[in-house]
Amino acid sequence: MPVVSRRTLAASRAFDAVKHFAFQSRYGERRADPGIADFTFGNPHEMPLQGLVTAIRDGAVPQNKDWFAYKTSEEAPQAFLAAALGRELDLPFEPADIALTAGAFAAISVAFRLVLDAGDEAVYSEPGWFCYEPMLLAADAVPRAVRLRAPTFDLDLDAIDAAIGPRTRLVIVNTPHNPTGRIYPRKALLALADLLERASQRIGHRIFLLSDEPYRRLRFDGRAFTSPAAVYPWTLIAYSYGKVLLAPGQRLGYLALSPRMPDADRQALRDALFATQMALGWCFPNAVMQNALPHLEGLSIDLPALAARRDALVPVLARAGHHVLPPEGTFYLWARWAGDPERQWHALADRGVFVMPGSIMNTPDHFRISLTASDAMVERALPAFAHAA
Ligand SMILES: Cc1ncc(COP(=O)(O)O)c(C=O)c1O
Repeated sequence: MPVVSRRTLAASRAFDAVKHFAFQSRYGERRADPGIADFTFGNPHEMPLQGLVTAIRDGAVPQNKDWFAYKTSEEAPQAFLAAALGRELDLPFEPADIALTAGAFAAISVAFRLVLDAGDEAVYSEPGWFCYEPMLLAADAVPRAVRLRAPTFDLDLDAIDAAIGPRTRLVIVNTPHNPTGRIYPRKALLALADLLERASQRIGHRIFLLSDEPYRRLRFDGRAFTSPAAVYPWTLIAYSYGKVLLAPGQRLGYLALSPRMPDADRQALRDALFATQMALGWCFPNAVMQNALPHLEGLSIDLPALAARRDALVPVLARAGHHVLPPEGTFYLWARWAGDPERQWHALADRGVFVMPGSIMNTPDHFRISLTASDAMVERALPAFAHAA
């Protein structure tokens, strides 16, 4: 019998490629080198937002004896978020619909534990965020990946329908989408809702939808956004402040239940939220972040700066022969390599420019660029991008 549990071993294996890239590849060796142009992970490469620093500093100054007591989903931030999210998505959230979590990671874990039994299946689309698979395996669930429709990377509704079987309990949608930058239009989400309704009837139990929306505020050119929670009642929203504040280490987010959900199901989920978060290891945000939350709502990283980096990179990449999908949201650029992926990745690495290989997202002919790189990195990288092809 292995020392480590089988499900954890399976989860660990599913994360091997990312771990290898992050720590052992040529990128891993140079990740701390200030001379590289780092377009890999969505990490900050500049100083944090001053408003965030002030809110954290203020949130750390105790105003009563309970300031650093155990924090669950505190009433004040729950009420604040119900109102703010209600305005943003035009849905009547109530405070009890909101579970405060340590980022979207914890919100997703909570969602899995809420609705998935061991052996239940969850459908998600690829290319996609590389943590769904290991997280599902760690939850003893069965990951079912379906492909997005290249070259536009729209949801493939037929593939989702075909992947739904008697054990399917959850479908995951990530919009705005990492890595492609797509924002799924309302029409596609309505068609998905219709599909899930029919599939739920067909298999004889309710399929839930997890709408993973941590990039919801990061949209280019004033693009509209529809949350799946507005069109499919059995939706749970996962959100993180890690992206909009570019402070993923601060671990603040929430899981929100769609107010459109029928009362009995909504109440059953509400009733289970606290125990689920406790049992997963008290995955609530810490006291300082809960105190800071109301002061974070209006803050955002510089979207025009992201757009300017996108606009600097896209024509150069296109001239080098890469096929770029112009992002509608997120802080990523998704492109198809002009030539041999491995050779081109190494040619960029030779010049100190590191991008995320699509192989990590099971799409080896593509690569992802994170626009969270600094302007100086973009400047340094442009000649390399121009020449590497
Ligand atoms: C699609 C998606 N979901 C969830 C997360 C997790 O976000 P956080 O680390 O802020 O919890 C990420 C982070 O990269 C992501 O890209």
